[in-house]
Amino acid sequence: MPTTIDGRKVSKDIKNEIVQKVDALKAEGKRVPHLAIIIVGDDGPSHTYVKGKINACKEVGFEYTLLHFANSLAEAKLIKQIDKLNEDEDIDGFIVQLPLPDHISVEHVNERINPGKDVDGFTNQNFGSITSTHHLLLPATPFGVMELLKRYEIETKGKECVVVGASRLVGAPVSMMMLQDGLATVTVCHEHTKDLAKHTSQADILIVAVGKPNLITKDMVKKGVVIIDVGTSRVEDKTKKSGFRLSGDVDYENVAPLASYITPVPGGVGPMTIASLLVNTLKAYEAREI
Ligand code: GUN
Repeated sequence: MPTTIDGRKVSKDIKNEIVQKVDALKAEGKRVPHLAIIIVGDDGPSHTYVKGKINACKEVGFEYTLLHFANSLAEAKLIKQIDKLNEDEDIDGFIVQLPLPDHISVEHVNERINPGKDVDGFTNQNFGSITSTHHLLLPATPFGVMELLKRYEIETKGKECVVVGASRLVGAPVSMMMLQDGLATVTVCHEHTKDLAKHTSQADILIVAVGKPNLITKDMVKKGVVIIDVGTSRVEDKTKKSGFRLSGDVDYENVAPLASYITPVPGGVGPMTIASLLVNTLKAYEAREI
């Protein structure tokens, strides 16, 4: 059986490391890092994620501010809020939770954020720093994936890494990180890839970030593969109180026996996104304080 990559444990370790730093700041009589979160509308999963981010701030002793706006909020008003947070001396970093309502351009919003406070790592400047030797605030989920591989001492150098999904949020940045920092040979597959299994079956490390339950089946992977499943889809499950459960992109039950390492869903990559957000907020704080 494979080793389960325990994102909850790694994320807890990272939070403990942050708690020690926050305690040291307090002992020196300094202020603590302060994260702000903007959420627009009433999307259920987004509110659940934001709750998780706020709880994480509480756990490590960060200050936090939550700004919740109605779905009808005009783009210009949101931009004004971003300008305010950009200028607010008390705020070290902030995020705008996605997805946004259709009438708001994610690109306009992201590019308005001061890159020094962009703790999601979404702005072009931070995203582009993946390819620089001087990394700025790296995109949170891909950074979390790299951290899992590092902390489980999984060799990436010279390995065949196949990434399925080329989104700006995960697939594109994680591919670049596996190339730049992981020194892997990287293949990126996406919705127009003709023969997905041809590529995935070559992978030593398979990173999947699509959002389609059971996309990866046992006939698509080779024995000993390392699997990082970034997918999180809600699927109906009447046995659960909520009526749903979370599912990754990999047919876990049938694929796991072939893998050497695998991330579960939930409890794999998910908790790492939040841990990375805290790491970035601390980094943003340190850059402003020093
Ligand atoms: N929606 C889904 N994932 C994320 C994330 O990492 N950051 C933000 N801001 N929104 C998201």
